[in-house]
Amino acid sequence: MNIYSFLSIGYDLLDKIWLSPGGNDPRRVIENLIPDEKVRILDLCCGTFTNGLSIARKNKNSLVVGLDRSEAMLREGRKKVRKEGLNNVKLLCRDATDTKLREGSFDYIIIGLVLHECDPALRERLLKEAHRLIKSNGHLIILEWEKQEKICRKIKYAPLYITEVMCTPKYFKDFYTADKNKLFSKYGFETEHCISCNYTVVMCLNKSED
Ligand SMILES: C[S@@+](CC[C@H](N)C(=O)[O-])C[C@H]1O[C@@H](n2cnc3c(N)ncnc32)[C@H](O)[C@@H]1O
Repeated sequence: MNIYSFLSIGYDLLDKIWLSPGGNDPRRVIENLIPDEKVRILDLCCGTFTNGLSIARKNKNSLVVGLDRSEAMLREGRKKVRKEGLNNVKLLCRDATDTKLREGSFDYIIIGLVLHECDPALRERLLKEAHRLIKSNGHLIILEWEKQEKICRKIKYAPLYITEVMCTPKYFKDFYTADKNKLFSKYGFETEHCISCNYTVVMCLNKSED
């Protein structure tokens, strides 16, 4: 049992309080990065499947696979998929560092709000697995917390910042302030562009040629 067994029920409040109201909602930004074509998308560490759900709803030609090791988080995701009657979705309960999925089988992989809570070794294993699974001309989409500059934003973000620092004291601050372009290039990804969103940034990266 891990922390997400408890957080699963209220997890989607994160979107209601911080990510959706006004401004740039990162979930909409991610959804708009995916073309309306027959593409295969992997929402890696999908949690309650918020990223994958809106893509599957908008792009019925796509296949969206959600993968997470927390059955409790996936249960919330499954409820949402069932409610919308989507049949272009597969949800898998597996470890993201050893997915057993076929090499080069995805056009897009999304890793949302995960890397900041990983120790460097886990982060490396996740990014290596993502690199293995993405097609040679495929894309990695990263959603992560962005350093807040405006005072009103700092105040509203404070409860999340404190929680993250308390839960992952060793890694969060390092990742939060790290040069992300440099970090991802180490694992074979080139930053194409970054979009600033509510409290977060969406990064679109290309798999670089080996
Ligand atoms: C903060 S949630 C993010 C959920 C979702 N991606 C989002 O954008 O809201 C982090 C998720 O990563 C999952 N996770 C962390 N490490 C994992 C691993 N090694 N394999 C599979 N899932 C993992 C957790 O179970 C949790 O559901």
